[in-house]
Amino acid sequence: MSELSVNHLLGIKYITKADIDLIFETADQFKEVINRPIKKVPSLRDITIANLFFENSTRTKLSFELAEKRLSADVINFSAGASSVKKGETLIDTVNNILSMKVDMVVMRHPNPGAGVFLSKNIKASIVNAGDGAHEHPTQALLDTYSIRRELGEVTGKKVVIVGDILHSRVALSNIFALRMLGAEVKVCGPKTLMPRYIESLGVGVELNLQKALQWCDVANMLRVQNERMDISYFPSTREYTQQYGLNKEILDGLDKKIVVMHPGPINRGVELTSDVADSEQAIILNQVENGVAIRMAVIYLLASKIKHNASR
Ligand code: NCD
Repeated sequence: MSELSVNHLLGIKYITKADIDLIFETADQFKEVINRPIKKVPSLRDITIANLFFENSTRTKLSFELAEKRLSADVINFSAGASSVKKGETLIDTVNNILSMKVDMVVMRHPNPGAGVFLSKNIKASIVNAGDGAHEHPTQALLDTYSIRRELGEVTGKKVVIVGDILHSRVALSNIFALRMLGAEVKVCGPKTLMPRYIESLGVGVELNLQKALQWCDVANMLRVQNERMDISYFPSTREYTQQYGLNKEILDGLDKKIVVMHPGPINRGVELTSDVADSEQAIILNQVENGVAIRMAVIYLLASKIKHNASR
């Protein structure tokens, strides 16, 4: 197969294992490109992409923008804070205005779950979901699973524990879908109050004890507590959270085996991870960032091929 089964990347839930395999193969090629002295290919010279960020972001926004530029696409950027959204404009009006400038693809981050799906039904452009509220963050899950594959050879059969705020984390949900699809065993670990009630129906185990979860796993993906999505307290204090669910060097060195430590960023050093763990050789956090550019190049390239293909039919 050399084509994605979808015209948009709205979530891992909407794609197939064959899609993921194709994205990984394509990312392997782009990884070579970004390690060359000339890090650019002319593939998307005829494509214009709008990055619409209605929610804060550093890494994801930079990563998408770099990926687009390395593919030679024309890029426009928009951040909600400095826009007419504050003046009451609707999402469709904002985006339609941008599209009348002849944009082919929209990369969107939005605080509302389902914003990408909604947009894909209402406008003519290929949509990439760069995070929709507590719902999905598909490119993060692709880069996370791709990083595991590069680090450990394959994802199938690997034991992965996702630690932290499972309830509010789009990274957790997209990772669970991707890891299960690729045949990994998955457990989630964190305070009971931050576990969604339906979680076991997604084919993952629940382990409330961090020590036991780490003893079991090959890979630990440590998530940030999503304070911005909480309107009540889910645990007594940050200190208590760290005591129970924070990973420090003593715990890491006390395990029987060497596990791989991941984090999607931004890290709250001293909360979910201590600095010496974040900077240790077992942490692949910066590899994740590098792989993120190759993965996003692959996603954008493959979706743009579909735009060109659909236009020629
Ligand atoms: C994640 C996000 O925005 O969901 N970060 C990211 O995309 N790099 C995780 C987080 O904010 O904790």
